[in-house]
Amino acid sequence: MAESALFITLAASIAVGLTFLFGNPKIDPLWIFLPIVLLLIPGFYAAVISGPFVPSARKRTQAMLKLADIKPEDTAYDLGFGDGRLIFAAAKNAKRAIGYELSIPLYLFGLLRKLVSRSKVSIRYGNIWKQDYRDADVVFCYLLPKAMVRFYKDVWPTLKPGTRVISNAFTIHEIKPIETDDKVYLYRR
Ligand SMILES: C[S@@+](CC[C@H](N)C(=O)[O-])C[C@H]1O[C@@H](n2cnc3c(N)ncnc32)[C@H](O)[C@@H]1O
Repeated sequence: MAESALFITLAASIAVGLTFLFGNPKIDPLWIFLPIVLLLIPGFYAAVISGPFVPSARKRTQAMLKLADIKPEDTAYDLGFGDGRLIFAAAKNAKRAIGYELSIPLYLFGLLRKLVSRSKVSIRYGNIWKQDYRDADVVFCYLLPKAMVRFYKDVWPTLKPGTRVISNAFTIHEIKPIETDDKVYLYRR
């Protein structure tokens, strides 16, 4: 569903861009803004419902990876991969590392990064709230407090026992972390 929306948005943006560049010269230059706005809308939506793009700081990224203690047989997810710094690093140790992102520019950046780095990471376009995490051993979150409430209500019950959830900056209010490093919190399902 989200992937169809991505391709329709991309196709519409390219079509409007090409029409402007090579088509009818009488087209109002304002039309150039339409594809840009179209491309940015999902990212704004994601920022409002669960969290804007703020990459985890280097120190926090290290703390998250340390608390995750990823094993070679693990499957790791990043809920909103941003610029990919966390999930690309996780992919070096995990069997499978999967990142979801709703922002189109960030998703395209992730694809490009995968191409250049030849990482085995799986970059997926989609809404984090519509995915299945039942096979997760590790789940990374850096989301707004209201999204952590939703995470505990909707995602946490679906995780298998033993899954490690690592949250940057924001806690899951309902449960106690089993370990904390700076403002990074580790929970075990
Ligand atoms: C605070 S950033 C964290 C990025 C990365 N995980 C990190 O730690 O560096 C949150 C990211 O989640 C993405 N995001 C927010 N809501 C989302 C949703 N519903 N579906 C997919 N991605 C989402 C945002 O676009 C943003 O890139």
